[in-house]
Amino acid sequence: MRMLVKFLCASVLLLLSALYLLGSVRHTAKTNPLPAEEYRLVSPLTYRYVLNQPQVCLSRSPFLVFLVPVAPQEAEARQAVRRTWGAPGRDTLTLFFLGLPKGALLSPLQRVLEKESQQHGDIIQMDFLDSYQNLTIKTMMMMKWLADHCPNSSYAMKVDSDIFVNVFYLIQRLRSSPRVGFITGSVIRDGSPRRDPSNKWYLSKELYLEDSFPPYLSGAGYVFSTDLAARISWASRFVRVIPLEDVYVGLCLRVLGVRPVYSYSLPRFRSLFEVRKLEYDRCTFAGLIIVNRFKPSELLQVNSVCQNI
Ligand SMILES: *[C@@H]1O[C@H](CO)[C@@H](O)[C@H](O)[C@H]1NC(C)=O
Ligand SMILES: *[C@@H]1O[C@H](CO)[C@@H](O)[C@H](O)[C@H]1NC(C)=O
Repeated sequence: MRMLVKFLCASVLLLLSALYLLGSVRHTAKTNPLPAEEYRLVSPLTYRYVLNQPQVCLSRSPFLVFLVPVAPQEAEARQAVRRTWGAPGRDTLTLFFLGLPKGALLSPLQRVLEKESQQHGDIIQMDFLDSYQNLTIKTMMMMKWLADHCPNSSYAMKVDSDIFVNVFYLIQRLRSSPRVGFITGSVIRDGSPRRDPSNKWYLSKELYLEDSFPPYLSGAGYVFSTDLAARISWASRFVRVIPLEDVYVGLCLRVLGVRPVYSYSLPRFRSLFEVRKLEYDRCTFAGLIIVNRFKPSELLQVNSVCQNI
């Protein structure tokens, strides 16, 4: 009798995994590459580096690379990151990704950026206009840069500059995380396109036909094993550009059949990637990986108190 139950269980499991595999195969089979004209928009090969740091990973392989998209004029935010979680560390490397300011190379801001780049060696800039709608291009630029220039790092984190990152705790968690095909953060499973043209996140049916989004990670901060950078770059050949960069990465993950992993802490299943802004409370942050939406001055404050725990 027990043998029979075991046998039945095993068969059911086998059947389920076969169905699962079939499902993912069918999924990849129906995706077609984008027309060249469309792919050109998002392909990093379309754009040139204005400022680059191609040598930063030649003499070391950081455990974790912070990829921080930031607008050209946000010098104060960059400085706050450099003085807090983005400070140079044994295991980490922090890089800022920018497009061009309005007025491009002739902008006075561009001179300032060149100076900042010489001083800190952490700015990577490409020649597309830096704008909210172009964030998808910027994200794909970060993926390509990582795949080309720092492929031997273990993990990368795409993180906004107004976030508090608990580096110590994050690295501790990552030491026991999968090394390939791994991506984690605040997973959004029930996202759908806004069809009202006055909405900030409006998406027309021409751009995106489906009624829902596949699971994706909140763009505020997500962590992935470095192998995914090249794979996501590759997958973007199959995904139409939409101006929602976090959903876009989710669409690329679907092409790859990679499932985003939700990170929670036991015993209360609290998300480690807290998307709300918590009132700062004597380092309740100690058990979280990221917390959202700080002004540069607030970020510096949180850091100085939390350093002593
Ligand atoms: C995105 O960047 C391209 C290349 O610089 C530019 O032509 C386009 O106007 C930008 N789009 C937006 C919406 O800013
Ligand atoms: C990465 O590691 C491989 C194998 O250890 C090595 O051949 C390659 O040169 C390294 N690449 C970089 C950019 O460090």
